[in-house]
Amino acid sequence: MCGIVGYIGNTPAGDILLKGLRRLEYRGYDSAGVAVKDSDNIAIEKKKGRIDNLDLESIITGNVGIGHTRWATHGKPSDENSHPFFDCSESLAIVHNGIIDNFVALKDELEKAGHNFSSQTDSEVIAHLVEEYYQGDLMDAVTKTVSKLEGSYAIVVMHRDHDALIFSRNQSPLVIGIGTEENLVASDVPALLDHTNEVKYLQDGDIGRITTEDVKIWNDKGLEVERETKVIKWSVEDAEKGGYEHYMLKEIHEQPKAIHDSFLGRLVEFNEVDFSKYDIDLINIISCGTSYHAGLVGKYIIEEITGIQCMLDLASEYRYSSSTEKYPFTIFISQSGETADTIGAAKEAKRRGCKTLAITNVLDSSLTREVDEVIYTQAGPEIGVAATKTFTTQLIVLYLIAIQLGLRKGKILIEQAETYRNELRRLPRRVEVLLNDVDAIQDISERVLADAGDIFFVGRNINYPVALEGALKLKEIAYIHAAGYPAGELKHGPFALLTNKTPVIAICIKDHTFEKMLGNIGEIAARESPIICVCQEEMELEKLCDEIVVIPEISPLFSPVLINVVLQLFAYYTAYNLGRSIDKPRNLAKSVTVE
Ligand code: G6P
Repeated sequence: MCGIVGYIGNTPAGDILLKGLRRLEYRGYDSAGVAVKDSDNIAIEKKKGRIDNLDLESIITGNVGIGHTRWATHGKPSDENSHPFFDCSESLAIVHNGIIDNFVALKDELEKAGHNFSSQTDSEVIAHLVEEYYQGDLMDAVTKTVSKLEGSYAIVVMHRDHDALIFSRNQSPLVIGIGTEENLVASDVPALLDHTNEVKYLQDGDIGRITTEDVKIWNDKGLEVERETKVIKWSVEDAEKGGYEHYMLKEIHEQPKAIHDSFLGRLVEFNEVDFSKYDIDLINIISCGTSYHAGLVGKYIIEEITGIQCMLDLASEYRYSSSTEKYPFTIFISQSGETADTIGAAKEAKRRGCKTLAITNVLDSSLTREVDEVIYTQAGPEIGVAATKTFTTQLIVLYLIAIQLGLRKGKILIEQAETYRNELRRLPRRVEVLLNDVDAIQDISERVLADAGDIFFVGRNINYPVALEGALKLKEIAYIHAAGYPAGELKHGPFALLTNKTPVIAICIKDHTFEKMLGNIGEIAARESPIICVCQEEMELEKLCDEIVVIPEISPLFSPVLINVVLQLFAYYTAYNLGRSIDKPRNLAKSVTVE
């Protein structure tokens, strides 16, 4: 995810672009840049780091420009990899949001044709392709360029000889802002609102042009189209959150896309890590907080799909534990890649002679430099302190790793792998269905959970760690004491605490533990605790439970993804009812860089 903005009008573009980029910083913030054109030239100022690092003194004044704030996916955050990109002759500049899947082949062809590249990004191929096709008609050159691109893109192109910005989109957002004697284009509405509240949302395949006076759009069939003008009523702050009241809720709702982006291009050909290089008979997963819970779910996934034994360690404990004789293949999970305990544990694992792999959401983060291999989740930036979409995408990567290892080990055949892949393919839609009907969850949060002093979460097997994560989320943002338990363990202590004032959220999935879980629910009911059951279909559970939340049909192995979304929403709506500071809970930080 990156933020892009373009301006053309009667006012100097530099400051307008910077202001627009600040409004888009939630989309990425590892580097930033702007390009501005006067009558003869284009000047670019771009740097690694925050927007405030940009020095606009070096930018010529001009009323046409493009800007970019980056969330790195290809090429580490650096000055050279920041956008905008020039072509070889510095006649044109581009910004891009998305991923060009075929950029390696395109770059190869362009280099053979004599183009010189200055970065490791996929995006730079766009500048050189436009240069290759340009013969005086910029629109024609961009049209030919996008016909060569595979993957996702929102692009804006400017040329020193044209008073116009050319744009196009495919699977990445782009919206036009219609001003008075000025027009804008941006990844999202907040970047436009200082100028106009009249916008046109582009559709996949659209390509078009803005000048100071007008907007023209053609669809993927080359027909000129009129996209409806909408009037935005949000404030700037509302708009940054896409109309959601909190980043956390926005990020919960972004999960269908985050899941899709995390398996895109990896389902069948997963070639980021060559597992054949490693002899993997034992796996250890090390992490903290929510990432630790993802690792715990991962243990069940990996053992089921690969038959390889999997252990778990909390990073803060592993660092100071005694060394074992064995050298397990060690996986580190960290959304930020900056957690001090996890980085320390990675150094220790290396010292012990383990081969290591990191799963993280942040390109080139510190953790990635400590390990042998890295796999990135593709969740996009997560702003809310409580991890939501990053947890879900960590699970997706763990499924992908397990399928790959399962095939390698001969534990599963290609048909079984395809069944698992189909489950993954269906997940985004299933999460969407769940998110479209949250009334029951909202109601239970308000009526049952918000007043409770203690809440228990119970599950069995693969949904036991999901119970732990549900309890953690509630503690983090609602400040209610909560504990997650394997349902079979309640009788070994927690029963002493169960009363009619301690709600129990029970995860009940139709797997081999179902009958046992029914027994546990009966035991809880006998203590008169209000029981909220999260299950697949009502079955006989309605007789035993006070409240029921039904999730869409799914196989038990993939159920943690859906169940966890329900528990995220319980935490969110409970905290909401209590008026908590949801995006920035007290005493907590998004990434903990101290021991
Ligand atoms: C902090 C955050 C948690 C997160 C944990 C581990 O405590 O508040 O949400 O789960 O760090 O972070 P990591 O970036 O390593 O996943």
